[in-house]
This record gives sequence, structure tokens and C-alpha cells, in this order.
Amino acid sequence: MALGYFQNATSGFIVFIFFGGALTVVGLHLWSGMLENRQDSTATGRGAWVPVCPVGDLQDKRGKVFVLPDGERAAIFLYGGKISALSNLCAHQNGPLGEGRMLYGCVTCPWHGYQYRPADGRSPPPFTEKVPTYNIAIENDVLMIDPVANAAGTYVEPLVLAEGEKQ
Ligand code: FES
Repeated sequence: MALGYFQNATSGFIVFIFFGGALTVVGLHLWSGMLENRQDSTATGRGAWVPVCPVGDLQDKRGKVFVLPDGERAAIFLYGGKISALSNLCAHQNGPLGEGRMLYGCVTCPWHGYQYRPADGRSPPPFTEKVPTYNIAIENDVLMIDPVANAAGTYVEPLVLAEGEKQ
């Protein structure tokens, strides 16, 4: 449609705006990709369980994005004294689940609002989307994660914080 319009365009301004906008969007995507690549390359270690953060760093009903040794990202959520970990990639269009919030007991994607139960990564019925989950543990008040993801929709018993650890 734009190319048809450009055939009769008398002003270069619209053409400039069109291609300038397209270049800006492409440039922003490339820049974002470079930043993520740099962040991913700082991940270290491989294979065994890896430390994520002190449990006290988690915020209630908020996600924490953690870059795994293979560059994948896990979204870790603390909700009502429980902790679960999911893939950071929404099953809809790969939105960043870890940047979402807990709403109505579900992790809610910040892009279009798809929801997933934190313990099994499944959307509540009647929806059928599901994302991988991760096994997690606490050692000396540090949250640990098994970097090998479970199959999408696999239930993992949430970690339950002791009364003194709850926020
Ligand atoms: S990408 Fe998550 S809802 Fe669309």
C-alpha cells in the first residue's frame, strides 16, 4: 500500500517518515538484541544447580528474570510465601513473563495478558497454553535453580518459605 502511495507522492516528506520510522524500529530491535546478548554472555557456569540470589531479594508478587548458563532466561516469582520458576518466554509471542506480575494467582504476561499458574506453567482453563518450569531449592538462604527446564506444563511443588522468611 505504501509503495503504491509513493508512486504518486509529490512530497518526499511522507517517504522520509515511512523509511525513517522503519529504520528506527529495526535499529531499536538490533540495539535491544545487542544489549541482551551482552547480558547473556555474562552468565557463567554450566550443568549443576546454580545460585540465583538471596531469597530476601525476591519481591512479593513480582518476577525476577534470571539468565541461565545456556543463555535461556527463567522467571522466578514469590507469591504469598511460595516461590516458583517458569520459562521467561510467554507461549503467545515470547513476551517476558518475568517482567509481568502475579494477578489472580497467575503470572501475567506484560505484553498481552496471557496468564500461567506459577507451579505448573499452564494457563488456567479454558486456555491451553503452557510454558516450561524449573526445579528450585534454597541453600543457606540462597535460591538455587536447576538450569535444565522441565517439559512445558510440568508441575513443580512450590518452595514454601518458613514464617520468618516471608515478606
Ligand atoms: S506475548 Fe505474552 S501475552 Fe502476548
